[in-house]
Amino acid sequence: MEFNIEKLNLIYDMDKAAQTIGLRDVNLALSGNRLVGILGPSGSGKSSLLYCMAGLRRQTSGNVSFEGHSYKDMSTAKLAALRRSDFGFVFQRHFLVEYMTILDNVLTPVNASSKKMRDKALNLLGRLGIEELANKKPHQLSGGQRQKAAIARALINEPKVIFGDEPTASLDHASAREVMKLLDEYKQNAMVLIVTHDESILDNADTIIRIWDGAISSVQNKEEGATA
Ligand SMILES: Nc1ncnc2c1ncn2[C@@H]1O[C@H](COP(=O)(O)OP(=O)(O)OP(=O)(O)O)[C@@H](O)[C@H]1O
Ligand SMILES: [Mg+2]
Repeated sequence: MEFNIEKLNLIYDMDKAAQTIGLRDVNLALSGNRLVGILGPSGSGKSSLLYCMAGLRRQTSGNVSFEGHSYKDMSTAKLAALRRSDFGFVFQRHFLVEYMTILDNVLTPVNASSKKMRDKALNLLGRLGIEELANKKPHQLSGGQRQKAAIARALINEPKVIFGDEPTASLDHASAREVMKLLDEYKQNAMVLIVTHDESILDNADTIIRIWDGAISSVQNKEEGATA
């Protein structure tokens, strides 16, 4: 798992008089299986960085590459294919499909009729403490329970990278810890990037990136593996 970010700039509303700078000249190299926390005040550019890394937003200039594949040279369709095969997402809002059960929602990224996948989904839900809700619809769950279902869905196809934008914001402290424990275990096989305001959930982070006004102000590593 390797990201290389070079002179990344993101300007919103390029074509309008009022422009906002999302990111300015960000350089970052991240590699290995690790839990990466991205911290910074509101409006500092945390989500902007995450979405550029995930290929959900195109940079204005500079480049992001993942496993040596440069986003700059990738068509939108190719980038979408990369996201589907290698990335998993957890957003602050859960985006579950209302007419489907929790189990079927978790199974959307994979073959839902496979017994192996259904068992895996139930196992993930069990580890998050909501297995008994598998056959309910999203509106029958609390906000925190829905968020856990969204996390199970993000993990089901074993992505190489998990992108979480404030994934624990709607959870109480105990649930936030359960979710972070699961993500921490998951990092054995993946890179997990978590944007948060809550530094207390990042006890197990291997790398902490701080953002200020669209730029990286510091990168702290517990061990080797990343440099700014
Ligand atoms: N779609 C958009 N159009 C215009 N400006 C935007 C857009 N999204 C973000 N911005 C601006 O870009 C800057 C960085 O925003 P970003 O959402 O990355 O911050 P953030 O650190 O994630 O903040 P928060 O903690 O509030 O989610 C801010 O000034 C914001 O107002
Ligand atoms: Mg944000």
